[in-house]
Amino acid sequence: MKTILDKILNDAQKETDCASDLKGLNEVRIKFLGKNGEFTAVMKNLKDIKAEERPLFGKLINDAKVILEGHIAFKEKELSVKELEEKLLSETVDITLPGKRVEYGSLHPISIVINEITDIFTGLGFDVTDGPEIETDKFNFEMLNIPKDHPARDMQDTFYITDDIVLRTQTSSMQIRTMLKQKPPIRIINPGKVYRSDFDSSHSPMFHQIEGLAVDKHITLCDLLGLLGEFAKKLFSKETKTRFRPSYFPFTEPSVEVDVTCSECKGKGCPLCKGTGWMEILGAGIVNPRVLENCGIDSGEYSALAFGMGIERIAITRFGISDMRIVFENDKRFLRNYR
Ligand code: DAH
Repeated sequence: MKTILDKILNDAQKETDCASDLKGLNEVRIKFLGKNGEFTAVMKNLKDIKAEERPLFGKLINDAKVILEGHIAFKEKELSVKELEEKLLSETVDITLPGKRVEYGSLHPISIVINEITDIFTGLGFDVTDGPEIETDKFNFEMLNIPKDHPARDMQDTFYITDDIVLRTQTSSMQIRTMLKQKPPIRIINPGKVYRSDFDSSHSPMFHQIEGLAVDKHITLCDLLGLLGEFAKKLFSKETKTRFRPSYFPFTEPSVEVDVTCSECKGKGCPLCKGTGWMEILGAGIVNPRVLENCGIDSGEYSALAFGMGIERIAITRFGISDMRIVFENDKRFLRNYR
């Protein structure tokens, strides 16, 4: 019995020493100490031994088991350290590799210009409103003194959803919506998208406008001149001069086109301003009394100034963009220039 036991312990220790990983070591443990292991088998044989010798052999078996357990525990520690080292080695982080670049978003050049213009007018006491892009023919045209078949409609050919519903061609529809629900004094600007069936290097079927409206007692063309002159100085530079040219809009009387000195050449003449020294930036005027009356405002008591500008035109002037279509292609290489 003693020799058998010595042999088992000897074999078990040898196999323990040979285990190359924790998994292999566990197999050795099961083989010798497990429920069906070799020591358990020897234990079962105790019943064949004389009763008085049993305690002695029982002790010998237990001692051998304790020795083996110690041996395995020692090996286990050694293998754990080895495996951990191997793992750390194989998982090393190469801190010299370039990091992943995080791309920051930025505002679209059109949004930048809208924000700047909005800041200027809110600083001058104007509120910002918002209205629908799908508009009735009535608010987009008729109430603005542009009846059906009026020739002025030709300049704003648009997308009709039905005979009476259009994609708005101008933010001027917001003058009507505001005056119908708000009593004077009124000071609003309305930035938003407008649509016209145009498409070439200087026209996109969708573009942006900002409409402005001020209704109060005694508003005159002088107020319009002062307001827009101040606006141009704030948007471009202190040296910017403004000039009014007579024009025609059905909803204003008198009507003007407003030019500013070219931001590129400061009025000397350059390719951007086609040699004139001036750039047209907006249309404006004193609101036609008929439009006020359409909205239930007494034109004997109140007068109003209004203006509307194309944001893209201002952005193009500001940033020197040559083809307007590129503004909406959302090519990141282009947009990155305007951070
Ligand atoms: N709605 C005009 C357009 O789209 C621009 C405009 C001109 C707006 C004169 C106004 C204005 O409010 O008074 O061409």
